[in-house]
Amino acid sequence: MNVLGIESSCDETAAAVVADGRHVMSSIVASQVELHAAYGGIVPEVASRQHLIWIIPVVRQALEEAKIGWADLNAIAVTKGPGLAGSLLVGVNAAKAIALARGLHLIGINHIEGHIYANWIYGREPTFPLLCLIVSGGHSDLILMRGHGDYQLLGRTRDDAAGEAFDKAARILKLGYPGGPAIQAAADKGRHGRVRLPRAWLGQSFDFSFSGLKTAVLRLTEDLSNRGLLVEECDGEGQEEKAGLVTSCDLALGFEEAVVDVLVEKTRRAAEDFAVKEVLLAGGVASNTLLRSRMAERVPLPVFFPPPRLCTDNAAMIASCGYFKLKQGARDSLDLDVHPNLKLA
Ligand code: KG4
Ligand code: ZN
Repeated sequence: MNVLGIESSCDETAAAVVADGRHVMSSIVASQVELHAAYGGIVPEVASRQHLIWIIPVVRQALEEAKIGWADLNAIAVTKGPGLAGSLLVGVNAAKAIALARGLHLIGINHIEGHIYANWIYGREPTFPLLCLIVSGGHSDLILMRGHGDYQLLGRTRDDAAGEAFDKAARILKLGYPGGPAIQAAADKGRHGRVRLPRAWLGQSFDFSFSGLKTAVLRLTEDLSNRGLLVEECDGEGQEEKAGLVTSCDLALGFEEAVVDVLVEKTRRAAEDFAVKEVLLAGGVASNTLLRSRMAERVPLPVFFPPPRLCTDNAAMIASCGYFKLKQGARDSLDLDVHPNLKLA
């Protein structure tokens, strides 16, 4: 079954063709990152207008790269929420128009569920019950999954999402946007043990909190800067060694380690408490290399994560999720609407 996936919940206009929920025939992602970079974050009106310009060319390119025509499609899966209302509307209306014109089945997908299903692509069948850590720009959820479509929310963020924390810390450290990849690159040049930042454990809860950490980065940066101890470049040719200064890269590493520690430890404990068979990572932050390696090191179970291009927003994950829902008989009518605050569990 060939499913066309459409994703436009945030700042990526994406379309993909996926065969049988597992084989990516094409996956086009038109990113608006550069458009929003000047503002240090996403401007909703700018995003929806750009989706409108790109949606049809991106869908056409997805069909071209898959080397198929409209007649070879069996269904369309589109993100219906959560996300920016104006952005979601562009994808949902394009999907409805194509479904109507071509007589195709239509299914609306929860974006978060799509992220989880990126783990089904390329043929491996995850084993239930499993634990999924979804860490993106808008979410940090720890979810117990006992079967397809069966979700129990064990923990979520009480303030900033993990990706949001990366983006805010990167802004404080003047590392650029989006923050995740920028912090990761800077942290690679950071020196271990220079900066130790607090971890919010919140007792036995599986919830997360990252806003205190962000404030700690801000305070420490200001303090070091006031005392003339902050070096904004990391390649100071060893100067910082002599003077005992702290670089932005040391701060980036301290921040990355604090986020990863909490994510890994809570996942490890939940995996043990709920006796799951494996652990999945999903969402943009799941492409973080330190998170991937620490999780695999510290969780005594098989740990899986999609390749980076399937961790960040894409439409292949939406098509894959759509396939499994369609197989179970789910369909939406042309009344399908957007749900900006849609919840998973
Ligand atoms: O899943 P995603 O593409 O969009 C949402 O649904 O939010 O996630 C985007 C988030 C951004 O906050 C970005 O900074 C973060 O994922 N991210 C990373 C990395 N790559 C992207 N965070 C940490 N390390 C990375 N390598
Ligand atoms: Zn996402």
